[in-house]
Formats: sequence, C-alpha cells, structure tokens
Amino acid sequence: MESATPKNALTQSEQHYFNSYDHYGIHEEMLQDSVRTLSYRNAIAQNKDLFKDKVVLDVGCGTGILSMFAAKYGAKHVVGVDMSSIIEMAQHLVDLNGYSDRITLLRGKLEDVKLPFPKVDIIISEWMGYFLLYESMLDTVLYARDHFLVEGGLILPDKCSLHIAGLEDFQYKDEKINYWHDVYGFDFSPFIPTVMKEPIVDTVESHVVNTTRSKLIEFDLNTVQLSDLSFTANFEVQAKRRDWINGIITWFDVEFPAPRGKQPVYFSTGAHAPYTHWKQSVFYTKDDLECEEGDIFKGEITCAPNKFHKRDLDIKLSYEFQAKGVDAARRSRKNTNYYIMH
Ligand SMILES: C[S@@+](CC[C@H](N)C(=O)[O-])C[C@H]1O[C@@H](n2cnc3c(N)ncnc32)[C@H](O)[C@@H]1O
Repeated sequence: MESATPKNALTQSEQHYFNSYDHYGIHEEMLQDSVRTLSYRNAIAQNKDLFKDKVVLDVGCGTGILSMFAAKYGAKHVVGVDMSSIIEMAQHLVDLNGYSDRITLLRGKLEDVKLPFPKVDIIISEWMGYFLLYESMLDTVLYARDHFLVEGGLILPDKCSLHIAGLEDFQYKDEKINYWHDVYGFDFSPFIPTVMKEPIVDTVESHVVNTTRSKLIEFDLNTVQLSDLSFTANFEVQAKRRDWINGIITWFDVEFPAPRGKQPVYFSTGAHAPYTHWKQSVFYTKDDLECEEGDIFKGEITCAPNKFHKRDLDIKLSYEFQAKGVDAARRSRKNTNYYIMH
C-alpha cells in the first residue's frame, strides 16, 4: 500500500516509533487485552444508533479491529489510517471479513493523508500510552478532531483522567536501586540517579497502595487543547496505615460517551481494577517516608513532552510529606524528583 508519508520524511525517532507497530506481537498484546478491546466494542455497540449511516475515522487503526467494530455496528463508511506496515495486514483482514466496501484503509501519518470525505461524523482511536500521555498520540487525535470532525461530532473515548496514590514497595525498590551499591563486589552506584529517573511500568498489587487516591488531571477530548497536555497538577493523599511510602503509583481511567440515560462504558488501569497491558506506572521517591495513618502526602506533578524526543515525557514530582503526631518533625520531608519516561 502506498504511504502518504514517505519513510525518509520521518525523523529517526518517528521511524523507530512506527516500526514498533510493524510487528504483530504488539497488536496481539493489545487485542488480547480484553478490558481495552471489549470496552471499545461495547462503547460502539452501545452507541450503534449514533453510528448508523455515519462516516467514522479510526485514528491509528493498527489491525483494523476498531474499524471493523464500527462497520459491524452500522457505520456507513469507516476510514482507518495508520503509518505502520501493520495496515497491510489490516487490509487483508478487512477483505477476509467482508468489509472491503465499507472500510477504506490509508497508509501514512494521519497529518499527511487525504481523506476520501471532507469531514467525518465520529472519531475512534486507541491512543493511550503509559502515564496516559506517553507516545504523544493524543496530539494526532486532536489534529484529527480539529481538521476532520464535523461540528458536534462524536469522539470515542472522550474523557480520561490520570490518578495518583502512594505505595509501599521496599523490597522491589531495594532490589532495583540498592543493587548498584555492590555489583560483584564493586561500587556501581553512579547508575542510581539514572535508574531513579525511570518510572517502572509493572503490575502493582492493590494491597501495597497505602494512601487514599487523588485525581491529578482530567481531559475532555471534545475541548482539550494541545497546550493543555503540558501541565502542572496538584495532588493530596492521606496515609491509610502505619507503613512506608517508597514512591507513587499512577494510572489512568477512560470513559466513552453514552446515549442519554445509559451508563457510560468505562475502564480503569489502576491496581484496584482488572489487568490491562498498560499495567501501572511507579515512580520511586528519593525519600522512603515513614507514615502513620492520616499523614498527608501532597505536592504537584509537572508533565511535558521531552524537547528532543517529543514522544517521551519529562515529569517532575515536588512533594511535601507532612507527618503528624509521633515523631512528626523527624518523619516529615520535602523534595523534588525528576523523571523521564522513554
Ligand atoms: C495503540 S495502537 C492501536 C491500534 C488499533 N487501533 C487497536 O486498537 O488495536 C496505535 C496505532 O496508531 C498508529 N499511529 C500512531 N500515530 C499515528 C499517526 N500520527 N498517524 C498514523 N498512525 C499513527 C500506530 O502505528 C499504531 O498502529
């Protein structure tokens, strides 16, 4: 399939990014994430009256799964766009499943393709990355909204929010960080600042989350602007028991528009919710905080795309741990940590 974006027009990091979606393995992982994939299917099915006879744009269609859901639930025509070579397979799948006359697939960057319709009625996209915004694919969805969506058109999903809590993770943190103090008898500790800067994407058992939760930020895709995706947001959580807080855990929730009077389809990627391939993102703090029930852990997070690699995120966490009661002055801390998600 000819591409609207020649490969050599992409920067090296863009090439690397789109190549990562060439292989079937990443699509297998996404398809098998049934919380993710069934949420999209259920949301489209729930809105089938709105999909009926509409033109739909699938931003970053990958294997074409969302395009086929849209066609199955009544869309008049679906346009799926993807820069990655996986779109060749998507075309086979569309043909094989009998949707060739109602799904058009276009290869290229969404920002470069010429759509066969001047405007679309609905945009569907699965764009979320770790810490919600990693990969910066939301930029592309906003581009699609601003250039191709009819006034009052629908975006699926249309609401998402990022959340934070404290966690006890002494053992793993110790293995991950203190390991470098003694590597076969040598001091490798200069690695530690680099290791500390990288958030860890992993499944966290819910019982290690030991504070209340706080919603960091919420985006409404109907109105959010590109500039809003670089943000500073405050949080405040309370320790739920005597324990240690060794870092923060973050996750995101996603919600789809629903017909009037119906419960919206929603899923969470938190430790309290069923597994998704996004797992959770853990940021270790420089301090290990000794907490008593009711102690306050508060601060702010600043997040922005990295200047040189725009799909990476620079994240700054400034916190104040306000211990109360027993030994409060000794246990209280204030600090700032810097991270890069790449
Ligand atoms: C997270 S995957 C989702 C794939 C598919 N929609 C699904 O739900 O299984 C995102 C896809 O978007 C594509 N993509 C990301 N940015 C894009 C852009 N600017 N233009 C075209 N495709 C893009 C990637 O190549 C990748 O296949």
